[in-house]
Amino acid sequence: MAERVAIILAAGVSKRMNTRIAKVLHEVCGRPMLAYVLDACREAGISKMYVVVGFSSEHVKERFSDVEDVVWVQQKKPLGTAHAALCCKAHLKDFDGETLILCGDGPLIRSKTLKKLIEKHESGQSAATLATALLDKPRGYGRIIRDKYGNIQGIIEDSDCTEAQLAIKETNPSNYLFNNKILFEALENVKPDNVKNEYYLTDAVSGIIGTGHKVEAITAVSPEEAVGINSREQLSAASKIMQRRIQRELMESGVTIVDPGNTWIDARAEIGQDTVIEPFTYIHGEVKIGRDCRIGPFAYLRHGTVLKNDVVLGVYTEVKNTTLSDSVRVRHHSYLGDATVGEKVNVGAGTITANFDGQKVYQTHIGDNCYIGSGAVLIAPLEIEDDSHINAGTVVSQESINELGGKALKNVSK
Ligand code: UD1
Ligand code: CA
Repeated sequence: MAERVAIILAAGVSKRMNTRIAKVLHEVCGRPMLAYVLDACREAGISKMYVVVGFSSEHVKERFSDVEDVVWVQQKKPLGTAHAALCCKAHLKDFDGETLILCGDGPLIRSKTLKKLIEKHESGQSAATLATALLDKPRGYGRIIRDKYGNIQGIIEDSDCTEAQLAIKETNPSNYLFNNKILFEALENVKPDNVKNEYYLTDAVSGIIGTGHKVEAITAVSPEEAVGINSREQLSAASKIMQRRIQRELMESGVTIVDPGNTWIDARAEIGQDTVIEPFTYIHGEVKIGRDCRIGPFAYLRHGTVLKNDVVLGVYTEVKNTTLSDSVRVRHHSYLGDATVGEKVNVGAGTITANFDGQKVYQTHIGDNCYIGSGAVLIAPLEIEDDSHINAGTVVSQESINELGGKALKNVSK
């Protein structure tokens, strides 16, 4: 079996996104789109990825500073996808294996599709194998040109297509596997002879065919995997597809999502078995929810939230960077931020942790078995002992607790 690496193209400027941020840092369900492409490569068994960066590259590298299987390659000017791949020459010119090329703006590609592409390539004698997609609306994508025997002849970019070619539905999602040496020879010969005056990677494919090598294509990419993100509209469309995947996986793992279309769950969230997510729940960031919880409707769970088991988080509740232990009830209209809440605590309607004094954010700790009456304002930093009873409408500060002294806190009122 040949050794395999991947090149991921992520240096483009992205005019159509109209953004000052590198396109691959734009988030799909809470993760930068590049993260998904890297994961798909890893799951397909590729252990080294060369990511070509250019526009805003320092931010991309910073965001991914903890990954160890990526080599960052700089493309000084975005002269096209072939030029971007050629930027890896210093690293790969002597590599005697296979090179997968993917685009950083195609986060929906699945590892199982990449595995199929690899299998197809391994089973034949081709210099390159492409995975293609059949799209009802192929607009914007490169079209696969085949001869009357079905042999691939090349790829024509949408902007270079004739009327007849525009009608072709087989498109190029930019998922290719190349014999590395043949790839680099072909890249050297690509000329910017096209409407956009760019060096096209797709022309390297025609070049390889032109020099007598065999190229094959398999229609292995589903329409939803083929979505490339070039605009905010496509970002939103891709996010919706990813959201459906996230929810489907959660449902398969035993989570009830009452109304998937009206629920949004971050890719990084973890949810335990038999938890029910009611409509209009929005989960953003690294959030962990245990078993047998009931969340929503209209709950907002933010980064750093941990709910243990059997927690009820009801209507109009917002929780941020907070841990709720087993059997906590927060049924209505509350904000809990930067807090830890012990077991079996009841948090009354309208209770708020005042965690920010205009300068700094402070912590609130609530012990086990506490009863927090409706409308309590808990002014952080604050430590509430186990078994405390806070009357409704109380403004609780550490000072007021200290005044009452130790166990007297068991019944704090205003
Ligand atoms: C590209 C393909 C097209 C395919 C589509 C799939 C080419 C010429 N066209 O078109 O056939 O259907 O993807 O989504 O390859 N990039 C660089 N450096 C550059 C230019 C681009 O790194 O100089 C990167 C971009 O950041 C992006 C990727 O390459 O991640 C693709 O570039 P983009 O401009 O989005 O190409 P498309 O027009 O979508
Ligand atoms: Ca693109």
